[in-house]
Amino acid sequence: DVTVPTVDCDVLVVGSGIAGCAAALAAAREGADVLVVTKASEPDDAATDWAQGGIAVTRSDPETFAADIRAAGDGECDPAAVETLVHDAREAIEDVLVDTLGVPFDERDGDAGDDDASDGDPDRVDAAGYDLAREAAHSERRVLHVDAETGRHVLRPFLRHLRDRRAVRLREDTAVLDLLADEGRVTGATIEPPADAAEDVPAAVVRADATVLATGGVGALFPEATGPAGATGDGIATAALAGADVRDMQYVQFHPTALDTDDPAVDGDADGLLISEAVRGEGARLVNADGERFMPAVHADGELAPRDVVARAVARERDRTGGVRLAVADVDFAEEFPGLAAGCRERGVDPADGIPVRPAEHFLCGGVAVDERGRTSLARLYAAGECARTGVHGANRLASTSLLEGLVWGRRAGADAAGRDPLDDPVDPPTYRDRDPTLPGRFADDKFRRLRGTMGEAFGLERDRERMAAAAGSLRRLKGEVDAYTRTRTSRELYELRNAAVTALLIARDAVDAPSAGCHRVVDRAGGDGAGRGAGDGEAAAANGG
Ligand code: SIN
Repeated sequence: DVTVPTVDCDVLVVGSGIAGCAAALAAAREGADVLVVTKASEPDDAATDWAQGGIAVTRSDPETFAADIRAAGDGECDPAAVETLVHDAREAIEDVLVDTLGVPFDERDGDAGDDDASDGDPDRVDAAGYDLAREAAHSERRVLHVDAETGRHVLRPFLRHLRDRRAVRLREDTAVLDLLADEGRVTGATIEPPADAAEDVPAAVVRADATVLATGGVGALFPEATGPAGATGDGIATAALAGADVRDMQYVQFHPTALDTDDPAVDGDADGLLISEAVRGEGARLVNADGERFMPAVHADGELAPRDVVARAVARERDRTGGVRLAVADVDFAEEFPGLAAGCRERGVDPADGIPVRPAEHFLCGGVAVDERGRTSLARLYAAGECARTGVHGANRLASTSLLEGLVWGRRAGADAAGRDPLDDPVDPPTYRDRDPTLPGRFADDKFRRLRGTMGEAFGLERDRERMAAAAGSLRRLKGEVDAYTRTRTSRELYELRNAAVTALLIARDAVDAPSAGCHRVVDRAGGDGAGRGAGDGEAAAANGG
């Protein structure tokens, strides 16, 4: 047995996106000593940094916003959670993003309702002079943004601010390995040892009066995703392994318009790029390879239909005709979206020719089940942001509510976590067998490839029950192989692989028998609607070529 280094804190926050930062800030303001542990070594390792569209804000009528969230969620939202979000939205944005961080949201000259200042759209300018963008399934303009690069303009000042706070320690490039849990109570976590630790130390221990998970989503489990590669479901898996309740994992949202890097117009080795929904909000149209616009036949709201509806239609038209483009001729693209225009050009795409797009995994609506204070089913364990299932998103998330949910629940969780009494009997750190810390290289790469292939085939936009059941079996076998391999070896990649396998199994568990709703769409082999709600809004007709 080896003795491992131990760190104490009041509140341990795992993850450094907006939810983790908001939790750290709220806990520090309550006087807690906070340790933020993140495996990211650069801010852009967090999905927040990649967020484009913006952050939706409640305008004069919170009920309109709540109704849009519930409609997008396809009847599966928790109305009380939605109320919490719309209730806190404006105050949280003003307090943290505007007053504390000074996020430079785009403004428009003139007053709200001033037609000249708002390009003829009286709804375009917020009372404070901010420009409001429109996105799919929003019944009014309400999205605050900085160009289409909102996330980085939030996260980078946030991290700078936290670094300057004495009560917050930030430990970067450090993965959490497991939670320390005993009889339904979490007392901290094991983490990767510090770089200067003795070579044979397999981990360090953080003892915390409360732990907040804010580890983001699951993009790394899918062949194409719009987020960073580190999204391996770490918080969800470690919470589940500790016994926490995890729910609604079948609701994996796919964004309709990621750059189609397989299209010949895109440079061969180009990185992915999300083409923000805000571009459709400004009037961009989706056209198939025959140059035909197809969304009006699918849904009354056309390109601004709920995200799951648009994603399925894009996938279908891409398969049927060979490609889909986002035509931006009617949008002042270079002026309104300079960052995206540059991103397209860097990848060899001239936006004037239409931007080739396809769906890609974007957001997990389910996760670790939490209440309105971010509390999980385990005592002293909280979750916020994408890894949490608050009930806000139901079966499908409304655009530009993810930064908002991370901010609101991060703040609530951090404040509540700071109020925990000190632990009087912390759990003993685990003991370790000797394990070879050499890089597992090909083993992890091969297994990850297999896992992504399985997830892409069985848990994509349209799901077949037989295929899901078969995939669940193959994921169980894969998990068994990973467990056997990790008995004698250890590395960050192996923990990530284990976490990805556990998270994938949770998605399979929740998806296999669940009825169709929102982004969980079950079809039979003939391509019809397999169970639950009908396709509705012309989707079925369009699927059959009607
Ligand atoms: C986008 O800009 O299209 C993404 C916004 C979101 O996912 O909320």
